[in-house]
Amino acid sequence: MSDHSRILCPVLQQRIMSAEQAAELIPAGANVGMSGFTGAGYPKAVPGALAQRIRQLNSQPNAKPFRINVWTGASTAPELDGVLAEVDGIEMRLPFQSDPICRNRINDGTMDYVDYHLSEVSQYAWSGFLGKMDIALIEVAGIREDGSLIPSSSIGNNKTWIEQADKIILEVNSRQNAKLEGMHDVYYGTALPPNRKPIMLTDPADRIGEQYLACPPEKVIAVVETAAPDRNSPFKPSDEVSKKIAGHILEFFNKEIELGRLPKELLPIQSGVGNIPNAVLEGLDAGPYKNLTAFTEVIQDGMLKMLKSGTLKVASATAFSLSPDGIQEFDDNIDFYRDKIILRQQDISNHPELARRLGVIAMNGLIECDLYGNVNSTHIMGTRMMNGIGGSGDFARNGYLSIFVSPSTAKDGAISAIVPMVSHVDHTEHDVKIIVTEQGLADLRGLSPRQRAHEIINNCAHPDFRPALIDYYERALHSGRGMHTPHLLEEALSWHQRYEQSGQM
Ligand code: COA
Repeated sequence: MSDHSRILCPVLQQRIMSAEQAAELIPAGANVGMSGFTGAGYPKAVPGALAQRIRQLNSQPNAKPFRINVWTGASTAPELDGVLAEVDGIEMRLPFQSDPICRNRINDGTMDYVDYHLSEVSQYAWSGFLGKMDIALIEVAGIREDGSLIPSSSIGNNKTWIEQADKIILEVNSRQNAKLEGMHDVYYGTALPPNRKPIMLTDPADRIGEQYLACPPEKVIAVVETAAPDRNSPFKPSDEVSKKIAGHILEFFNKEIELGRLPKELLPIQSGVGNIPNAVLEGLDAGPYKNLTAFTEVIQDGMLKMLKSGTLKVASATAFSLSPDGIQEFDDNIDFYRDKIILRQQDISNHPELARRLGVIAMNGLIECDLYGNVNSTHIMGTRMMNGIGGSGDFARNGYLSIFVSPSTAKDGAISAIVPMVSHVDHTEHDVKIIVTEQGLADLRGLSPRQRAHEIINNCAHPDFRPALIDYYERALHSGRGMHTPHLLEEALSWHQRYEQSGQM
C-alpha cells in the first residue's frame, strides 16, 4: 500500500484515484497531450485502462467508435501506443512514434499521423494550429507541497501540455529515481512571434530555467500512483558494420581537427536514437577525446559510458533512452551523473536557434540517400511510414555538420541504401553534409550535384550496386536533359519498383 510519499500537495492528495477511474474522465474525441519521449517518462497505467474501456465500449452493438487524438513528445511504449492502437483507439497521432502496431495502423490507413519536427510541436500547439488540448496526461516523479511537479525521465512537451490543457491527469511513478529531482531545466521564456526574445543559452551546460514544472492544482482532475519501469530496450552489440561506420566518422573528426576546422573537444554532439548512433558513441569513447559536450535529444547508454570515462563532460537532452543495463548503471550511480546531465523541454533541447549557435554536430540515421545527397529517413519504398522525422531535421538543418549514417544495404543485401532518386525526401541536398556507410564517408561540403554523385557512389555505395549506379548516372548525364542534377525521370524510381515486384533492387 502506498504511503503517498511522492504526493506532498494536500489538495492533490484528495484527487488520488485508480487508473480505471481516471480513464473514465477522458471523453471520446478528446485531444490528449501525453508525456513520453523515446520510451521514457510516458504514462503507464491510464492508457491501458482507457484501452480496456475503449475495447468494451466499441464492442457494444452499433457503438459509435470511441477514439482519441494522442499528442506526445515522441515515441512511447507498448503500454501507451501499443495498447491504444490495438483497440483502434487513436484517431490521430503526432508527432513521432515507433510502435509496430501503431505503424501498421498508420500504413493501413486506420490511423492518421502527423509527422512534425520535434522542436516545432509546442509552438504549433500554442499557435492553435492543432486545435484545443482537452486533457494532459503526464507522468511525474513527484508532486511538491506547492503543487509543482518533479519531472520524470523525460520532459518532452510536458510544459506545453500542462499549460495548454483544460484538465490534467497526473501519474506519479515511484519507480522513477527520486534523485532525478534537480536534473531538469524548464524554461518559461518562450513566446510566439513577434514577442520572442533570444534564448540565453550559450553552452550545453547552461541552466536557464526552473527545476520543476509549474502546475495549477485546480486543473488537476486525477492523480494516479504507479510503480512501473520505463520501456528499456537493449541495444544490439556493435557489429562489424557499425564499427566501420564509427571508424570512418572518427577518422573524419581527426582530420578536421588537424585541419583546424574543429576544436579538439569537437563541438556539441547530437546523436540520433538506434544501434548505429550508439555504436558511434562507443567508438568516440574509445578515441582520444576528452571533455566533449552533447546537445542532443536523448541520453543513450553510449553517453553514460562517455560521461563515466571523462570523454564527455556534460550532456543536455530531453529524455533518457537506456537499455536495462544502462538504467541499472544510471540508478546505481545517479550521484555521479546528476550534475552532468540536464533534461530540458524538447522545444529547447532541439531548438534551431541553439543548434545553430552552439554549432552542433548532428548524427542521424537514414533509410536511403540519393546520388545528390537527398535523404529519406522516414518512408519505406516511398509510401510506408517507418517512425517519423523526429528531431533529425531540427539538428541536421541547423547544426554545423549534418552527418547521416546507414549500412549501405538493407534486408540481407536486397536493398541499396544509395538509390538514383529517394522515394521520399526528409533532408534535402541543402541540409545534408556528410554521408557514412560501412563502405566509407562522402564529404559533400562545397561539392556541386555532379561532384556529389561521384563522392557518394565511390565512397558509400555497396560494390554490388556501384556499377548500376554509375550506369544510371552516366546515361542520365548523356540523356540530353539538364546537366545540373542529371536524372532519367522514367527510371529514377525503378529500383524501388523492381524491389516491390521481385524482392531485389
Ligand atoms: N528499405 C527498406 N527497409 C529498410 C531500409 C530501406 N532502404 N533501410 C533500413 N530498412 C529497415 C531495416 O531493414 C530495419 O528493419 P528491421 O527492423 O525489420 O530489421 C529498419 O529499417 C531499421 O534499420 P537499421 O539499419 O537497423 O537502422 P536504425 O535502427 O538506426 O534506424 C532509421 C534507421 C532511419 C529508421 C532511424 O534512424 C529513424 O527512424 N530515423 C528518423 C528519426 C530520427 O532520426 N531520430 C533521431 C533524431 S534525435
